Amino acid sequence: MKQDLRKFSTEKILISPSLLAADFRKLGSEIDEVYRGGAELLHLDVMDGKLVPNISFGVPVIESLRPSSELLFDVHLMIDRPLFYAEKFVNAGADHLTFHVESSDDPAETIKEIHRLGVTAGMSLKPATPAEALFPYLDDLEMVLVMTVEPGFGGQSFMADQVAKIAAFKAEIARRNLNVHIEVDGGIGGKTAPQVLAAGANVLVAGTAVFRHPEGMAAGIAALR
Ligand code: DX5
Ligand code: ZN
Repeated sequence: MKQDLRKFSTEKILISPSLLAADFRKLGSEIDEVYRGGAELLHLDVMDGKLVPNISFGVPVIESLRPSSELLFDVHLMIDRPLFYAEKFVNAGADHLTFHVESSDDPAETIKEIHRLGVTAGMSLKPATPAEALFPYLDDLEMVLVMTVEPGFGGQSFMADQVAKIAAFKAEIARRNLNVHIEVDGGIGGKTAPQVLAAGANVLVAGTAVFRHPEGMAAGIAALR
């Protein structure tokens, strides 16, 4: 069944475990475990070796996981040309697509295409890009994704200097009276979650802190809440 991000209140804390930190030998049982542990979303990091200096997984992996999971597939496209690839990821089973303002396609056109495909749209930005770069598109987005590490790799340290950016989005979204989720990604765990939640984030992406939690994934999710 298709999941819809718009059904969740932006006041609610949502957990989106990042599959990048899972054991790739057994992806099916790993995503079952985060579902049973209470996650609402599944964060899927797609990297092309161009927008970020790493390559992860793409369409075939998402396609093969889709039939076995009810989680909302929250696809983070760290790729160039998101406009060209959007349809392929929606056909593979994405429920939501987030693309980067640093990619080469026109953002307004890309958002329009994502909506035409019947899913929700998000935009993300690298740590060096100011919040204002996304302000022209906020009215048309269902989510903004603030990177709290340099995108490309899991397991990096949280960049505390990005907290002000979360607050800047929160203020602008409130000022315009919009329903836009604020997602954070990179170095999020039990210690950093309170800071980002206080600044206004409501969707927490966590790879290491969920999939590699010493007491299991349910404990990792509980620690974030
Ligand atoms: C980084 C990815 C993240 C990453 C987060 O480029 O976008 O989603 O998997 O991993 P942790 O939670 O381990 O920092
Ligand atoms: Zn991500």
